Amino acid sequence: MNLVLMGLPGAGKGTQAEKIVEKYQIPHISTGDMFRQAIKDETKLGLEAKTYMDKGELVPDEVTVGIVRERLSKADCEKGFLLDGFPRTVPQAESLEQILDSLGKKLDYVINIDVEQSVLMERLTGRRICKSCGSTYHLVFNPPKQAGICDKCGGELYQRADDNADTVQNRLEVNTRQMQPLLDFYAEKGYLKNINGLQEIAKVFEDIEQLFAK
Ligand code: AP5
Ligand code: ZN
Repeated sequence: MNLVLMGLPGAGKGTQAEKIVEKYQIPHISTGDMFRQAIKDETKLGLEAKTYMDKGELVPDEVTVGIVRERLSKADCEKGFLLDGFPRTVPQAESLEQILDSLGKKLDYVINIDVEQSVLMERLTGRRICKSCGSTYHLVFNPPKQAGICDKCGGELYQRADDNADTVQNRLEVNTRQMQPLLDFYAEKGYLKNINGLQEIAKVFEDIEQLFAK
């Protein structure tokens, strides 16, 4: 399956992606994760991305499209892939079509995790992530069994640099502006499937499984 997962910041893309890639055994391609890894490794890409991410702005399309093109060309994408957080602009979506054409692939579904903006501030400022395995938790909605410790691997939990209230506010504004034209783009092509992201985490995943079972 060749999938795109869309949704505003905090909609639950990363949370559902963890479950989808485990069940369907396809690689998880998150542009946000790739940028965060580059920042950690202090590469040229990381230095550039950081200036945008710290402000909650989008990284320029040329940069983002380049890393996705390279990643989709890798052998493990032969059996399918899950793009998480890409595309985020119509030019990125147009570039993705060209990349897939050149690789002889096409999309199966574009899943939009649909939420109301009002719930997202609390979801993002309460998010905690495992330093070792990357699993996502929430202080209230999905707490770890032991505070500050990952259930799966015992790793230490941390808060993302862009999950402070000011940056979250800007991320929500920037992404809300870009979202509607992108939804229209994929609806016109017949790929778009909306999933109600206001339900609890397990129910959102059930709806995604049901979509694939059809
Ligand atoms: P990225 O890392 O993609 O961040 P984002 O889009 O802001 O989305 P998040 O990862 O914050 O949210 P999510 O939807 O994955 O939510 P999660 O599942 O964790 O991008 C970061 C930055 O990189 C961007 O700002 C930009 O600068 C740059 N970038 C990335 N891609 C780019 C692109 N294509 N173009 C340009 N720039 C790009 O859930 C959030 C919290 O809520 C968690 O704590 C979770 O436990 C909880 N939760 C999840 N689901 C539920 C539920 N159903 N009910 C209750 N709580 C829930
Ligand atoms: Zn862990």
